[in-house]
Amino acid sequence: MSTLQTVVHDAAELVVGPAADETLRTYESAAIAVVDGDVAMVGPTEDVRREYPFDTAKTTVDASGKTVIPGFVDPHTHALFAGDRSDEFAAKLRGKPYQEILEEGGGILRTVEAVREASDEELVANLTRQLDLMLAHGTTTAEVKTGYGLDTETELRMLDAIAQAADDHPVDVVATFMGAHAVPDGRETEDYVDEVVEEQLPAAADRGVAEFCDVFCEEGVFTVEQSRRILEAGEEYGLTPKIHAEEFTRLGSAQLAADLDAVSADHLLHATSEDAEAMADAGVVPVLLPGTAFSLGESYADPQQFQNAGAPVALATDLNPNCYSQSMGFAVALACNGMRMAPADALLGATRNAALALDRDDGTGTLVEGSSADLAIVDGPSHVHVPYNFGVNSVDTVLKDGAVVARGGAVADEDTVADGGDVRD
Ligand code: NIG
Ligand code: FE
Repeated sequence: MSTLQTVVHDAAELVVGPAADETLRTYESAAIAVVDGDVAMVGPTEDVRREYPFDTAKTTVDASGKTVIPGFVDPHTHALFAGDRSDEFAAKLRGKPYQEILEEGGGILRTVEAVREASDEELVANLTRQLDLMLAHGTTTAEVKTGYGLDTETELRMLDAIAQAADDHPVDVVATFMGAHAVPDGRETEDYVDEVVEEQLPAAADRGVAEFCDVFCEEGVFTVEQSRRILEAGEEYGLTPKIHAEEFTRLGSAQLAADLDAVSADHLLHATSEDAEAMADAGVVPVLLPGTAFSLGESYADPQQFQNAGAPVALATDLNPNCYSQSMGFAVALACNGMRMAPADALLGATRNAALALDRDDGTGTLVEGSSADLAIVDGPSHVHVPYNFGVNSVDTVLKDGAVVARGGAVADEDTVADGGDVRD
């Protein structure tokens, strides 16, 4: 019999994932046994103890009074960037619109300048810092987009930095190529689309780092037809489409996502119930980004219309210099308090449904037997405490493949995790 790697025991509540009817499946007074990085057994503590005597485990974690949830999956981030746009935050609060800032060469285009100027080492260090923060807030899988290069050389440097930062980091990183994030200063849009399709995409696909291709389909950025051309070209190079859809204006990008069988359509502030139906019929996962609406002062997306259509609503942080939050717990709190989602639905949105938005239907975002033992221990007696206790990091401990990787709001090292024994308090 394989060695028992880790046991987390006596959790007040343990969230397994979705039940057959898509409600949240939970256990009370529960434990989880980990063998070879995977969940070997989950259930009431005494049942697990009988099968897997705890004294044989290399590591035991006492989760009394706490809640064990699957590690958060963050399916939409622009976590690799450089520079500082805090002055734009103040301008936005004075009423300056996001798109006006972009038209004046600010916003994304300012970050592009900073990324082009940053060294390879700085890019890797910047992303590592963001991944550390995400991990400490309970995220164990995260998507990261390019799109602050907007030329072949810098887009490739971003892909290389993503691969390098991901290499020995506990967070599983999923890369998306997004050369069509904005039109670079001084360029005609059509001419830039040609460059993305003919030059950037083949070179990016050749790197073998990205899994998805994304486009900012928005008035003043890329039209539906330009977005279609880029996403179809991406598919030819093996990159699955994703799309920034119906964020500031309704252009028909949700419908485009359905036509292309995109894995997800994200933002959706202006999507209608017809859009939701079309997406649900085509299996496109709606990814809602409440932090973006919150920081832009816009109305939130309507999760209900996607739920009514039978779609698995996913949540993400949208971490970027315009929406500066690494915390999926905060996204869950905004989804509940701002979008009126039930805590259980928001939690599924931040875990299993978020994994579906990354094309991972392999147990990622769940703690079912056989899935990777990626989990967060929340300092509160039920999953409701994630959104209920907002504004703090209520994630106490994070495990990746059954190993303690973060503790007390920081990435773990030898000083915080005892070798081969109980996790120190
Ligand atoms: O998803 N909407 C476009 N892209 C990002 C913002 C990126 C930025 O402002 O740097 C988003 O919100
Ligand atoms: Fe985005």
